[in-house]
Amino acid sequence: MNEQLINKENLPRHIAIIMDGNGRWAKQKGKLRIFGHENGTKAVRRTVEACARLGVENLTLYAFSTENWKRPKMEVQTLMKLLVSSLKKEMKTLTKNNIRLNAIGNLNALPEKARQELHEVMDKTSENSRMTLTLALSYGSREELKTAVQEIADKVKNNIISKDDIDEKLINNHLYTHNLPDVDLLIRTSGEHRISNFLLWQIAYAELYFTSTLWPDFTEEHLFEAILNYQNRERRFGKTSEQLS
Ligand code: FPP
Repeated sequence: MNEQLINKENLPRHIAIIMDGNGRWAKQKGKLRIFGHENGTKAVRRTVEACARLGVENLTLYAFSTENWKRPKMEVQTLMKLLVSSLKKEMKTLTKNNIRLNAIGNLNALPEKARQELHEVMDKTSENSRMTLTLALSYGSREELKTAVQEIADKVKNNIISKDDIDEKLINNHLYTHNLPDVDLLIRTSGEHRISNFLLWQIAYAELYFTSTLWPDFTEEHLFEAILNYQNRERRFGKTSEQLS
């Protein structure tokens, strides 16, 4: 798959990825699950660099879900450590590529160390403008929507807004992703065909792309293939083909 085939004028503005299959990848190799996660970070780096180089403006990665807290304590601890060490290590790559780091999710649930490191990197990269890399951490879409509803209800109760002010834009403004455009392309690796509580509101019109490739095996070539596939689809947003042309 050749990068040259990609039409730079029609790139998805926002790509979101459910990075799945680290555990199975490790198991296939007779290794511990964490070996899969470690190699998953290499796929993260490859994907971030390729998206920035192509000119994708927003990349959002599902790194840790609200449900992932139920995993064995040891795996959760190692994933958090991996997050901290990756942030430390990748700070330079982010700066070099002019990438801003952003995070969505219930960040208060993260261990102190991870939260600190995250905020440090977000502060240091806040002026970068080539691409926004958003990590979904302790993220769950239903929780995000619940929190938004609570905040809006509070505002109505305190007469800051009226019930009639509630429209799609207002709801959007209360989501963690309020400063991001809707997702254009959602990729899930590892052959699972599920959304798993990821960006339910934001993917309303997204093109979905599923690949059987396990996340640690995901390369630039796989990314190009997904983008080309996206570019060959007709996005109608509810209209007819004729209306579009
Ligand atoms: C899914 O594979 C992967 C995760 C739950 C974690 C993703 C984390 C990384 C890629 C590494 C850290 C990320 C950053 C941003 C530094 P799985 O464990 O569900 O795999 P399985 O379905 O095969 O068990």
